[in-house]
Amino acid sequence: MKVLAFAASSSRSSINKSLVTYTANLIEDAQVDLIDINDYEMPIYSSDRENESGIPQLAHDFLNKIKQADAVMISFAEHNGSYTAAYKNLFDWTSRIDMKVYQDKPAVLLATSPGPGGAATVLAAAKGSAPYFGLDVKADLSVGKFYDQFDMEKSEINNIEIKDKLMTAVSLLK
Ligand SMILES: Cc1cc2nc3c(=O)[nH]c(=O)nc-3n(C[C@H](O)[C@H](O)[C@H](O)COP(=O)(O)O)c2cc1C
Repeated sequence: MKVLAFAASSSRSSINKSLVTYTANLIEDAQVDLIDINDYEMPIYSSDRENESGIPQLAHDFLNKIKQADAVMISFAEHNGSYTAAYKNLFDWTSRIDMKVYQDKPAVLLATSPGPGGAATVLAAAKGSAPYFGLDVKADLSVGKFYDQFDMEKSEINNIEIKDKLMTAVSLLK
């Protein structure tokens, strides 16, 4: 199984990237394609830009990455209760090619933050809108107080209950 995994964050030290990397590697026999959304940075979407210059190649490239995958795993960072601007821009451009951005792929959605909220608001938004964008959500999990749950030196979850929930989530992708 080929899993496309990424953090919906542009931070080089993204905790969501740590979480999605760890979780994607829990899947047995999976080929994980871990991408960085910084590699898909485009000008801020505007209908005027689209009318003048069309849709950037990077949006097509992102859509093709999804097409090549059997499953998708995303970990969402929350900025002011919503998506990061970096993710939203990529998503907006890609949705102009095909509104079913995620092409009915099975998905695990994650979210984490340093605080107790665990980016649950953005996760709920992503899950709630998933059917409109072809995202077949099999499981989702918000992880609060990331630095208490994750051993940064070993790059692994140290809370057994959360690890169990992540294992269950990835098992639903098969
Ligand atoms: C502009 C901004 C807004 C933020 N808003 C929220 C928020 O609404 N909820 C939250 O839990 N954390 C919020 N945070 C803190 C992020 O959860 C924290 O920066 C986290 O590390 C982001 O995930 P990342 O490391 O994967 O980018 C915000 C951070 C920034 C810079």
